[in-house]
Amino acid sequence: MNLQDKVVVITGARSGIGAACVDRFRAFGARVEAWDRSPVADPDTDDLVGRVVDVSSASAVAEAATAAANRWGGVDVLVNCAGIITPNLAAQDVDPADYQRNFDVNLMGVVHTTRELHAALADRSGAIVNVASQAALVCLPHQSAYSAIKGAVAALTRSLAIDWAAEGIRVNAVCPGFTRTPMAGGQMTPELDAAVSRRVPLGRIFEPEEIAGSIAFLASDLASAVTGVVLPVDGGWTAGEPALPM
Ligand SMILES: NC(=O)c1ccc[n+]([C@@H]2O[C@H](COP(=O)([O-])OP(=O)(O)OC[C@H]3O[C@@H](n4cnc5c(N)ncnc54)[C@H](O)[C@@H]3O)[C@@H](O)[C@H]2O)c1
Repeated sequence: MNLQDKVVVITGARSGIGAACVDRFRAFGARVEAWDRSPVADPDTDDLVGRVVDVSSASAVAEAATAAANRWGGVDVLVNCAGIITPNLAAQDVDPADYQRNFDVNLMGVVHTTRELHAALADRSGAIVNVASQAALVCLPHQSAYSAIKGAVAALTRSLAIDWAAEGIRVNAVCPGFTRTPMAGGQMTPELDAAVSRRVPLGRIFEPEEIAGSIAFLASDLASAVTGVVLPVDGGWTAGEPALPM
């Protein structure tokens, strides 16, 4: 992977996929800046610094980006995991404020971190991995605001990949399917769990560590020729229906 001693900023690092990324990158020998709106659980160590950062705030992200670059002398990788989901509602019932909340965190969070870390990443021909969603690729019922904004994250990923290719910055995204995290847990009932498992060709809901593995691959030198890719990590959900008994 060649992630040894790489400096990796991970947003949404306290929980779920972000926390799994912290563990995965540290296991590969990286030094991690763990950003979240809530304090990260681990105390600071030689290879880990936690910062309270609300990614929807341009000024908070700018301050953290400067602190990170000063602490480590540069930044090699940015993983944008911070995200929220708003209540399941039919499109006509969604409050415009829910579109705004999705916009502020799920899209502008990515805009702020990529803008503020652009120069540092250009210095090291770095890599960015954004966490979009399968909702960016196919309909997630009763999630119009989340889906619209995650679609924008996918489009932004391709735009940044093209704009920053000349500087050697690779920009990719993963689109996770249902993953067992606190975010998904808030919606999961045994019935939904069983229905999702039937719908996913690989037949199950995924663990955050499995998403973190694909993120680490895209961030690593193994993906040195990969940029502008929006990669489904969904057990085949977006590829099609599971096989029929015929
Ligand atoms: N779990 C799934 O099934 C699933 C599927 C597809 C995509 N995703 C995406 O994966 C990413 C991670 O989600 P997760 O499932 O691990 O959820 P999670 O709720 O476990 O973790 C999200 C983290 O983001 C942090 N966060 C939220 N708003 C923030 C803000 N304004 N500033 C900084 N940190 C903030 C939270 O504190 C939390 O630690 C999200 O972008 C989510 O949309 C999740």
